[in-house]
Amino acid sequence: MDSRELFLRAATGEATPRPPIWLMRQAGRYLPEYKSIRSKKSFAALCRDPSLSCEITLQPLRRFKLDAAIVFSDILLPAEALGYEFRLDEERGPVLSPPYRLEGDEKIWRPVEEALLRLTCVGKALQNVRAAQPSRALIGFAGAPLTVASYIIEGGSSDRMPHTFKMMTERPDVFARLMSALVDLTIRYVELQRAAGADAIQIFESWAGLIPEALYLEHAIPHLRHLLRSCYRPASPLILYAQASESLWRRLADLPVQVLSVNSEINMPRLAALRTDRALQGNLDPRWLLAPKPVLLAEAARIVAGMSGQGGFIFNVGRGLTPDVPPEGVRALVDWVAAL
Ligand code: CP3
Repeated sequence: MDSRELFLRAATGEATPRPPIWLMRQAGRYLPEYKSIRSKKSFAALCRDPSLSCEITLQPLRRFKLDAAIVFSDILLPAEALGYEFRLDEERGPVLSPPYRLEGDEKIWRPVEEALLRLTCVGKALQNVRAAQPSRALIGFAGAPLTVASYIIEGGSSDRMPHTFKMMTERPDVFARLMSALVDLTIRYVELQRAAGADAIQIFESWAGLIPEALYLEHAIPHLRHLLRSCYRPASPLILYAQASESLWRRLADLPVQVLSVNSEINMPRLAALRTDRALQGNLDPRWLLAPKPVLLAEAARIVAGMSGQGGFIFNVGRGLTPDVPPEGVRALVDWVAAL
């Protein structure tokens, strides 16, 4: 069985001889070959260049026996396509402008068809990776509406999301307009990525846990459900990644996806007991990759043992790899899982 088949079996809930493995942010600044390309171009420019994006996607696959590739891009590309200026500031992280705050601010939005044209570069990158890697699974992705909306409303990263919070409570109609626009564009963007060869699509709801649960349930989940329902295809798995509390995960576990990709704080066997029909993906804390090899592998073994006999399981981290992760740690982990 090749990596692609192994991954697709696990993602559709089948027990597999070993768990497939890939890692969120497997391409990125912990790899010197990424830093070398990045030193010549801005992050946004790399995302828009299909041959460089393909090259960066392939970098970790050349080094490690990963079972899947995730296309090198960013969840903020569709925000840029909609009409926002996007750049990565060395200190502040992603910056989007102008911020969406008031009724009327939607006047700058491009119609869906026009916005979609600006995302064809991602389709081309996926086609290039597909051609280069026929036997590994290929993952496309998009941000969930709340996570992307928070960047557009705040104008960048924010751990408190004051403006998003204010809009959700004061002007839920203005908030809902942005959420609907993002869902409409994302449905088409997912279609585009599948048509370009993506085997599976991961939806990133990284900031679900930053909004009080009651507000999330009332103002965010309905839009997320609409997106997932519209994109659900039995043979092309949807993976929902969220950073959320166990209480919120109990609600997310009902959404129409094949795979739940969980943050490191969650006890996966307990969540699996709740929803036996969903495959799980996760959830090694990437800090274990900084530990001595025997300590790292003991933690990986603990996770695998907890998930044995649970049906579909995909090994991954609970949040993205950080620039301080040593490539030798990644190698030790991937070699160990690949040899199971
Ligand atoms: O996983 C992968 O290897 C695929 C590529 C990918 C990136 N971003 C590349 C990237 C994916 C799937 C993302 C998703 C993304 N982007 C999320 C959701 C996942 C998560 O990490 O929670 C979010 C919230 C973003 C927004 C974003 N983009 C942030 C907050 C940052 C800065 C923080 C950081 O890690 O530097 C980015 C930039 C970014 N996206 C980099 C990469 C490789 C760093 C680029 C650089 O500095 O060269």
